[in-house]
Amino acid sequence: MTGPPTPATSRFEHVPLAVFASSAEASQSVAREIAALIRDRQKAKRTAVLGLATGSTPLALYAELVRIHREEVLSFSNVVTFNLDEYYPIAPSSPRSYRHYMQAHLFDHVDIPPTSINLPDGTAPSASLDAHCRDYEERIQAAGGIDFQVLGIGRTGHIGFNEPGSPRRSRTRLVTLDSLTRRDAAGDFGGEEHTPKYAITIGVRTILEARRIVLLAWGQHKAEIVRAAAEGPVTPQVTASFLQEHDQTQFVIDRAAAGALTRYRTPWLLGALGDLGLEWDAAMVRRAIIWLSQLRKKAVLKLTDDDYNEAGLQDLLRTQGSAYEVNLAGFYQLQHTITGWPGGRDPRRTKPGDAPVRPLRALSAGVFPKRVLVLSPHPDDDVIGMGGTLCRLAEHGHEVHVAYQVSGANAVSDEALARALRFVGDSGLAGPANVERLCALCDAHESTGSLPETPEVHNWKGLVRRQEAIAAARVCGVPSGRLHFLDMPFYHARPGSRRQLGDRDRSVMRELLGAIRPHLIFAAGDLDDPHGTHRLCLHALRDALARHSGEPWVRESELWLYRGAWSEWSADEIDLAVPLSPQEVLRRRRAIFCHETQKDIALFLGDDRREFWQRSEDRSRRLAETYNALGLAEYEAIEAFKRYAPEEFLRDLPL
Ligand code: F6R
Repeated sequence: MTGPPTPATSRFEHVPLAVFASSAEASQSVAREIAALIRDRQKAKRTAVLGLATGSTPLALYAELVRIHREEVLSFSNVVTFNLDEYYPIAPSSPRSYRHYMQAHLFDHVDIPPTSINLPDGTAPSASLDAHCRDYEERIQAAGGIDFQVLGIGRTGHIGFNEPGSPRRSRTRLVTLDSLTRRDAAGDFGGEEHTPKYAITIGVRTILEARRIVLLAWGQHKAEIVRAAAEGPVTPQVTASFLQEHDQTQFVIDRAAAGALTRYRTPWLLGALGDLGLEWDAAMVRRAIIWLSQLRKKAVLKLTDDDYNEAGLQDLLRTQGSAYEVNLAGFYQLQHTITGWPGGRDPRRTKPGDAPVRPLRALSAGVFPKRVLVLSPHPDDDVIGMGGTLCRLAEHGHEVHVAYQVSGANAVSDEALARALRFVGDSGLAGPANVERLCALCDAHESTGSLPETPEVHNWKGLVRRQEAIAAARVCGVPSGRLHFLDMPFYHARPGSRRQLGDRDRSVMRELLGAIRPHLIFAAGDLDDPHGTHRLCLHALRDALARHSGEPWVRESELWLYRGAWSEWSADEIDLAVPLSPQEVLRRRRAIFCHETQKDIALFLGDDRREFWQRSEDRSRRLAETYNALGLAEYEAIEAFKRYAPEEFLRDLPL
């Protein structure tokens, strides 16, 4: 567990928080607490009543409880459970129902009596729904109330499905899902139009009556809402904020979900850094200066002693001297992130007086051309996240390889595939044996609007995306012979089941790295994609680097993380900023356009209605504006990267 002392943080945080280095450690700690409760109750010959959540957050918790049940002989015979919610209407047998989820991840693997399991009924007739909800509340009371409530938090701040606006006194009831919540769930249901509009959820008041409440949150995409719930006012607009009023609540979160808390984002507001066990190192100075410049709406070099003092940065002035000195130090740090030569300069074309390529490490700076490996989790992340830089690297003559880690088949709609199948059928390209099959598929699509969920259909969807990636890479100047389609198997897990890396996923990555031995690796460090694919892809890279770690090429290589469609690095995290010209922005747009199946009706657009090319352009333009507002030159657009030496990466993203 990490984090500075509580007295300082408690001025901002209104709920006790335990911050763990990883979600795995955090889940183990919560599982131990639940196991201890179950055992205590067994000794006292009493039941333990658990309130349970679904979603991606508690998966590792349930896996750990199952492990404890098996390996440490923990019986669930005295456990009674009440789930928070269920979609409505939904059949319990549907793989997307929460009943199915709970059976698959917990109930089928432990000895809980089926009669002790309670979930809202997604098939309750609408005429008797109110009675069903009242009965659910009565069953909780009859069981003696909830001893331990597990919660996740939605990006709307919901707990259970108590969406913004849910009153504190609410009880179990039918609710309409928030549009952001439905968009987050759309991937599981094959599109927003197939996602339920309603759910039955227990109420805020029911949750607050639990004797102990633990809210779990993992990942950067939860950081802002965790901050709002823990540091913001108590408001029905963020229903998780009601937990501040419960004296046995704890937020158990990982470091990424804690990232927006004052103690991490602006720790100087808590007091002198030395008293918090922190120091004014270069990274902290840069963060404070950028924060101050944005707060005062002034370029870095224009900040005065008064700006520092009035914003609570006296400690920085005291340790570093005057505003003039701090400004210069911060400004140079920022300026040195910018280069138009992301792979270094060709020594044969370097003239005396050319600016040095500063962000590159000295180790590989002299090697030209370099072997560059761009890792793209999905077939379009490379061009969305770093299309301009990709063009530059190819144009500068480097040996650029792009590896697409998963097939991306899940994000191709039936409509898009049916269109391709019709083309093949009508073109006469399919032999007589296949034409009939094609026609049958197209007819099925015509009448039902969907294609059968067969491995073959899934495979074809992957092929459609492969062709799109080849076309986009061609726009960027990367020949198809340097493209690697890894098709990592973890991506093909059944809907609702837990995705995890297997041996084959790891070995494909290992072999690729061993074959290319890249000088530069560009990987998606964007951990906010809704289904965790990017996170697993990054873990696969980490495992592969760890396996190669003794080899000299790894020590000399450099790793740059780019962001995908979901968010941008904040200015203080950027180590490499590649400015793009207006023509390069257009070329990147053309490359993104090649991913036709991801336009307009992409299944995974998330809470942002803009298409991927628009997000990419807005994001890189906004970053250029941010740099300009800080007092740096005015560029059309900037693509940004965070640097890791592989050994630091292995340390920061432990196995
Ligand atoms: C699920 C539930 C929801 C989720 C929340 C977070 O039973 O009640 O409140 O906990 O939507 O979902 P994930 O964990 O998928 O991010």
